[in-house]
Amino acid sequence: MPLGDDGEVSASAPLPPAAEKARAVEEMFDRIAPRYELMNHLMTGGLDILWRRRAVRELRLAPGSLVVDLACGTGDLCRELGRHGYRSIGVDSSAGMLARARGAERFLRADILDLPLETASVDGATSGFALRNVTDIPRCAAEMARVVRPGGRIAVIDLAEARPVTRWIRSTWVERVVPRLGALLSDGDAYRYLPASTAYLPQGEQLLATFRAAGFRNVRRLLLGLGTVQLLVGTRDRS
Ligand SMILES: C[S@@+](CC[C@H](N)C(=O)[O-])C[C@H]1O[C@@H](n2cnc3c(N)ncnc32)[C@H](O)[C@@H]1O
Repeated sequence: MPLGDDGEVSASAPLPPAAEKARAVEEMFDRIAPRYELMNHLMTGGLDILWRRRAVRELRLAPGSLVVDLACGTGDLCRELGRHGYRSIGVDSSAGMLARARGAERFLRADILDLPLETASVDGATSGFALRNVTDIPRCAAEMARVVRPGGRIAVIDLAEARPVTRWIRSTWVERVVPRLGALLSDGDAYRYLPASTAYLPQGEQLLATFRAAGFRNVRRLLLGLGTVQLLVGTRDRS
């Protein structure tokens, strides 16, 4: 989804600066919403379902706990939360994604950097494949820390930075095959943005440090899918 000079999506232009990014991300997800879930399953061979399941399992909260899913998209994580006996609130900025969303008690259209929720009002927070789309990751972590009660839990999944073992997968499947699949079934530019957007993510240790600084303890990073995906889990500090 990199933007060209005219503000249109262009595969060759650099990633957009923060001011343009929020608008461009919202428009992109509005466009790809109709085939979003299908593309996820095709791109990952269905593994995205297992990754979300693992994220929800790592929450380890009491049945009936209330969990906010940040950048919920069409609600995959909300439905997984429901299958584990949790209640959920889904928050997303894209009207197109929310129009197709199902599985939460409530869906709210809002910026996850400014959550319309009271302080310490939920038991946990999840987020799937959204961090690299926001303009300010420390602020996103701080918003999670604000709304999750002390002792509550978070589980955050996103792509991981390429390592030697994953470089081949990245350079063949993710950078060549996925954009073609996207062009065929959805939007090629959006699915070219996918590998490029990991450049917005800080490296693993720095990401852990961001969540610790925001007020989480026991923050751990688990690598899934041969290291192509990272899952961050942590507990909201009591202090
Ligand atoms: C890759 S999709 C992930 C959807 C879902 N979490 C999943 O696991 O499939 C990223 C989502 O983040 C949303 N998003 C990006 N930036 C956002 C922001 N600042 N506030 C709210 N939603 C945002 C997009 O609209 C999109 O639905």
